[in-house]
Amino acid sequence: DLKGDTSRRLLDWYDRHHRELPWRTNPAEGVKGMRTDPYRVWLSEVMLQQTTVQAVKAYFDRFTRTWPTVRDLAAAPVEEVMSAWAGLGYYARARNLKKCAEAVASGHGGQFPDTEEALRALPGIGAYTAAAIAAIAFNRKATVVDGNVERVVTRLFAIDTPLPAAKPEIRARTGDMVPDDRPGDFAQAMMDLGATICTPRRPACVLCPLKEECRALKEGDPELYPVKAAR
Ligand code: ADE
Repeated sequence: DLKGDTSRRLLDWYDRHHRELPWRTNPAEGVKGMRTDPYRVWLSEVMLQQTTVQAVKAYFDRFTRTWPTVRDLAAAPVEEVMSAWAGLGYYARARNLKKCAEAVASGHGGQFPDTEEALRALPGIGAYTAAAIAAIAFNRKATVVDGNVERVVTRLFAIDTPLPAAKPEIRARTGDMVPDDRPGDFAQAMMDLGATICTPRRPACVLCPLKEECRALKEGDPELYPVKAAR
């Protein structure tokens, strides 16, 4: 089926070209590529709302070396967490980070819950972060839409409704493509495609695993998507 073909092509590309990122491995499991640690996924997603993948790496390494588990972070003095966060900006997020760690430690026995709904009930975890953790850490069939995914999907289907009005359609189209077997890899593959190939300017369409089916490319100018509302 056509829907399945798109996600299969994307996953084949991801298997060959995925970025090696520290939160995609779980040192505690001893084996690379083993099930990712929900704590590491959560921490990376919160940091990535703030800044680029490149800048996050150093902060992520320092945090996880200092506080290897969510219980360690929950037990840390808040001033130490704030100072480790310094430079990432938006300090309310660091306070929420600490509150969320405490909620997981005291309310969930130190284990992140594994559903979007339960994740959303935690401090500082919104719809996007809950979906990302559910998919990436627990392989739940969640629909994960960030800015990268918005760009990929509006181009793939030539969605010419401007943002933000296009968001419901983008979400529906993305949800239709999520494969039953690898929702977490699918989410990360969409992000990697958006970050490395389907870039805002000068996308590298010749290298894209979805070039044959991309409607924006067929039209001639993928950079026209996503359409922004006139201001
Ligand atoms: N941006 C936000 N989350 C990400 C992830 N898990 N991988 C790559 N880029 C991301």
